[in-house]
Amino acid sequence: MKGIILAGGSGTRLYPLTLVSSKQLLPVYDKPMIFYPLSVLMEADIRDILIISTPQDNEKFIQLLGDGSKYGIKLTYEIQPSPDGLAQAFIIGEKFINNEPCAMILGDNIFCGMGLNKILNAAVKDAENGVSTIFAYHVNDPQRFGIVEFDSNMNVLSIEEKPALPKSNYCVTGLYFYDGHSSEFAKKIVPSDRGELEITDLNNIYLKQNKLKVKLLDTGFVWMDTGTFDSLMDASIYVQTISKHQDVVICSPELVAFSKGWITKEMIFASADKYGKSPYGKAIRKAAEMMR
Ligand code: DAU
Repeated sequence: MKGIILAGGSGTRLYPLTLVSSKQLLPVYDKPMIFYPLSVLMEADIRDILIISTPQDNEKFIQLLGDGSKYGIKLTYEIQPSPDGLAQAFIIGEKFINNEPCAMILGDNIFCGMGLNKILNAAVKDAENGVSTIFAYHVNDPQRFGIVEFDSNMNVLSIEEKPALPKSNYCVTGLYFYDGHSSEFAKKIVPSDRGELEITDLNNIYLKQNKLKVKLLDTGFVWMDTGTFDSLMDASIYVQTISKHQDVVICSPELVAFSKGWITKEMIFASADKYGKSPYGKAIRKAAEMMR
């Protein structure tokens, strides 16, 4: 199973913050935003990951994450010349995907919750068996998202991108698990009215073929898209609250890698040394010391 983190886009909704910095490198409490989606793919046991970003930011991601060996994974990088839509990732990544099942997560999406592992593992298995999975989450501002319409038995009837009159409050989150056809199908999509290759069109291709599961993430899960000032602030406060009150480190690629046996404790300590006196460095050192 391959994985893609899509970390491009123009970030205009966060100007002036993103005038000279990538959105996905902004802090969410104590670590860069991209650590969160990276740790989700790693939780799903995905170790071969492509990071797609902009021409101006690609080098910064390489500086931060390197070839992935410090996390026991393989990271490669591609550039999206302009933000022409989420589904374009499967065209840019065609060679990397190589007709294999592939997950994609948006670089500004945060997922947390007990049991996320189980859900991710099921989605990986399904994708390997030819069934793709997307995740839906109840929101109060459905006009901003891809929205799923269900019948009374919760069968999926349609998925619409940013509908003026939403047929439900269930939005499609930025985490997708596809079978080996993602690149082939993405190449069939034509640009929408806003000039983008829409991920919703890709989802609808799978839906029409009866090969798409929409898994509801209930209230035990937190999903946040950190694309606005308010949601960025909410995400930081959420992570701060959990970190302080429960004394845990969430969405740490180093700790996920260690828990999976991909890296040694010494490798965590080496990362912690590099992070100096920062709270994140101290926290991963302390967590590693306590883990067997
Ligand atoms: O967040 C979930 C939503 O993400 C879904 O419900 C929608 O169906 C999906 O279209 C998408 O909607 P957004 O309006 O939030 O997409 P946005 O243009 O903000 O892009 C999402 C992230 O992907 C953002 O971090 C920038 C990045 N991006 C976006 C585009 C269009 C790219 O890297 N390349 C792109 O071409």
